[in-house]
Amino acid sequence: MSWKLASHQQHHAVAPHIYRLHFGLEALRPRRSWDVVELRQSVDSDFSWSGTVLSHPSWGSLVELVEQPAGRQAQLSDYHGQLLARPGDQLPAGPASLEVRLRIKRDPQACYFGLGQRMGPMRRDPGSYCNWTVDPPSSGHHRGIASMYQAQPYLMLHRPGLALGLFLNSTWFSRFDLGLEHEDEITICTLGGEAELFVLAASTPAQLNRLLAQLTGFPMQVPFWSLGFHQSRWGYREQSEIAELVAQFRRRQIPLDVVHLDIDYMHEFRSFSFDPQRFPDPAGLAEQVGQQGVRLVTIIDPGIRFDLHSPYEIARQGCAAGHFLRNADGSPFTAYCWPDAALFTDYSKAEARQWWGDQQRFLVERGISGVWIDMNEPATFATPFSQGFSSQLPVPLGLASGEGTDATVHAEVHNLYGHQMAEATHQGLKRLQPEETPWVLTRSAFVGTQKWAVSWMGDNHSWWEHLALALPQLVSMGLSGAPLVGVDIGGFFGNTHAELFERWMEQAVFYPFMRNHSALGTRAQEPWAFGPEVEERVRQHIQRRYQLLPYLQQLAEDSHQTGAPILRALFWEFPDDPESALHEDQAMFGEAILIAPVTRPGHTHRQVYFPPGSWYDFWSNQVVEGPTFKVWPAPLGKMPIFLRGGRAIPMDSPRLSTAHGVERRIWWVFPAEGPGSARRSDQTLHWQDEQFRLEPSLPCQVVMRCKDTTLTREYP
Ligand code: NOJ
Repeated sequence: MSWKLASHQQHHAVAPHIYRLHFGLEALRPRRSWDVVELRQSVDSDFSWSGTVLSHPSWGSLVELVEQPAGRQAQLSDYHGQLLARPGDQLPAGPASLEVRLRIKRDPQACYFGLGQRMGPMRRDPGSYCNWTVDPPSSGHHRGIASMYQAQPYLMLHRPGLALGLFLNSTWFSRFDLGLEHEDEITICTLGGEAELFVLAASTPAQLNRLLAQLTGFPMQVPFWSLGFHQSRWGYREQSEIAELVAQFRRRQIPLDVVHLDIDYMHEFRSFSFDPQRFPDPAGLAEQVGQQGVRLVTIIDPGIRFDLHSPYEIARQGCAAGHFLRNADGSPFTAYCWPDAALFTDYSKAEARQWWGDQQRFLVERGISGVWIDMNEPATFATPFSQGFSSQLPVPLGLASGEGTDATVHAEVHNLYGHQMAEATHQGLKRLQPEETPWVLTRSAFVGTQKWAVSWMGDNHSWWEHLALALPQLVSMGLSGAPLVGVDIGGFFGNTHAELFERWMEQAVFYPFMRNHSALGTRAQEPWAFGPEVEERVRQHIQRRYQLLPYLQQLAEDSHQTGAPILRALFWEFPDDPESALHEDQAMFGEAILIAPVTRPGHTHRQVYFPPGSWYDFWSNQVVEGPTFKVWPAPLGKMPIFLRGGRAIPMDSPRLSTAHGVERRIWWVFPAEGPGSARRSDQTLHWQDEQFRLEPSLPCQVVMRCKDTTLTREYP
């Protein structure tokens, strides 16, 4: 059965370059408190909507409907039911099962990107992409997977002169089909009975990222320490092991800022508890490692042990206050996670979020600096974990969630579970320590989560393929509005080995979030686990990260102000260069550094594409004029890195932690042509048309790297 959609006359601009198209069946549902869109007012613009075509004088036709949007009654089996729902589950009646479908003409001149967290190539067409948060099976990180931990229903189209964003503001299950169902069309469909599509039009990807941030939130500010190196593993079982780990880093003079404590620290997998035997004095541990410039981050799972009779109060408190998800009959919903039967906070309720935020006090009082939230798709198991690992069992779609005008079924807020958990955690930390910048790391996310948390890409494998996929995956996150990202260095599942680990560390120097993490039972992958030679090179890689921290800090600040990615697709920096849209095995780290990682075993050379401009080889100073291709040496320890002519990079002298002071600021300056010259007046360094502010309290060194020579000047 299918219906014509009512015409609400709800189409209007919400900003000069953002237009809202809205198609629904009948009376609109109330606006939800969790709406991620921040611009709602109707404003004047130059867009025009003909009834089927949205156009703008600057770019012509932007969106053209192939036919009027239609609605229909959908079945679960239409949507990869095996991941979406548990056996026997059905889509609840009402909006949950009303599908709205938009068919739009595909632009044959354009390349398609975005769509958030995916496996597979950065270019998205042709393909079918679901937006539904899941914990993929351990074998599931492959390009055939329909959905991953995060859901970002945001498609980007690019051709020289145009960067177009299509954000489907639907938290329900949705799907983008690019040229599979109909070769020359994009089909966007969503459950929920209405489709709200925001069309963002810009001339460059940089402008587009800014529009997306204006619409859905600017990426959060991150504390400086979080840009340093993080060490983690599932399986650090004792407090003494953590103390020894940090001591090793210091004995070996390897920079380190953060150690993550995985679920091992908990008492019987209770969130907000420390095992009294194995972690008897967490505050003492935080103090001890803190003296060495290292902070602790603890994992927290949403599944609260279903324990109403012990001194562990959280389950009792949450039940009494009605903070947990409920079955349709009102009884508390339980499912298996690490602590076996668990209760799940209903983050779609404001009071529950407040309560959850307040729980962070337990961690803050023990000196914990940041919170890592996991399993928040939400992920639940088919059988109790105490009986061993089992497959996932999705949460029923009809669970009662929210309250008041937000009352709904789980199917509407499923994709927001991690997002709202991140918000609650972030806000809780902020309330508890208003003078600190909160730091939250999340696995699941939605569009808008960039305001609350950094994210990592989940449980990858120690495979070359996953090293190669990391770059397109991370730059796609940046294109989709989430710049604060990283993947587990070395690979999570499986055993890594020296060459793979080293190549991974080389590349990860340039991840916005740099963490070494691996699964329980896998071989050790601390920086010294592969012998002294590898250790020495890995030390140098981490030192390079620390040298680059002032530059990275600038990039993170820029991201917070403008929405710009930190790790950038080449075409983001060179939108007028069509060749740049084709190379996903290279990236820009900010505007000044081009990286060309090695992601295959045994390779000592690789082809590098040099976009337009002058490029200085990091290792030799050799200059290449782009655009051109070259085969470049890439031995272990010397991944190809190029500095862009006409740019300057602030660096630090090496140190072991961001908690330690720096001796001086170092500016690496790369003239665009000729040796150029730099001049200093008071606290400003003038070079060509650029001016650099020098820290008054810091001595400064300017290193001018030219084709044949390096000039160094000291400014004490
Ligand atoms: C799943 C997470 O993705 C992983 O990083 C973590 O180590 C395990 N849960 C155990 O907490």
